[in-house]
Amino acid sequence: MKNGIELEIRDLHAGIEGKEILMGVDLTVRQGEVHAIMGPNGSGKSTLANTIMGSPKYEVTTGTVRLGGKDLLAMKPEERAREGLFLSFQYPFEIAGLPFSRFLQAAYKAQHPLEVMGPVKFREKLKETGSKLGIGQDFIERELNVGFSGGEKKRAEILQMMVLRPKIAIMDETDSGLDIDSLKLVADAVNRMRSPEFGALVITHYKRILNYLKPDFVHVMYRGRIVKSGGTELAEHLEEKGYAEILKEAGVKIIEAVE
Ligand SMILES: Nc1ncnc2c1ncn2[C@@H]1O[C@H](COP(=O)(O)OP(=O)(O)OP(=O)(O)O)[C@@H](O)[C@H]1O
Ligand SMILES: [Mg+2]
Repeated sequence: MKNGIELEIRDLHAGIEGKEILMGVDLTVRQGEVHAIMGPNGSGKSTLANTIMGSPKYEVTTGTVRLGGKDLLAMKPEERAREGLFLSFQYPFEIAGLPFSRFLQAAYKAQHPLEVMGPVKFREKLKETGSKLGIGQDFIERELNVGFSGGEKKRAEILQMMVLRPKIAIMDETDSGLDIDSLKLVADAVNRMRSPEFGALVITHYKRILNYLKPDFVHVMYRGRIVKSGGTELAEHLEEKGYAEILKEAGVKIIEAVE
């Protein structure tokens, strides 16, 4: 039987400028699975995503992060991407002077070195994939994220993910700022990617996207730890009861007010 690879996070502690933010995260995401992480503002969700991807801003103090058994923490961000990891940023950055299509083709070549695809064929592929997300050709020729609206940036991130075909994707609030039609487009795109060769970790504040994505697991993060895990019912309970009650039920000591 073929087993997919897994992203395995063990007792991860990380922080910034001496301030500890992640205080022992344990999580395993296998290919073929979709996990959602929810949690109050400032609980460390983006820190977790950026630390897994290797942002130099964050310092790992202890713990391990492995992809398919390989030590990700020993790799540079681009090496992690080459291993098949993808992060869709909460706040995608703009790069003036770099056309979106050129950026994506360079990333594609780096991540699929054995596939030969000329620029014309690559553009065709981009155009075809873009049309599924309501992204036109003119958009693809523009500078990366420069002047893109908030929702356009998020859709551009999903276009990158669809073209790059990562083994494990982390989506940090890709649904925030999307109108309802775009949200459906994005959720459909992720659903179409679901396969035994694709796993996802979806960070969100809203149950709405989870109605479309139907994650296999839902986790609640609070003060740098995953304090509760369950299925989609957990997202429903959160929506009904709010964080304070769910955390109380989980026996978590609440340090400050949470909505
Ligand atoms: N560059 C930084 N400098 C100082 N503190 C930081 C920095 N980045 C993150 N933090 C702190 O780390 C904590 C966790 O932030 P993080 O962005 O990971 O939270 P989050 O769960 O993604 O929140 P949100 O739901 O608002 O996106 C916060 O208290 C934040 O202020
Ligand atoms: Mg965040």
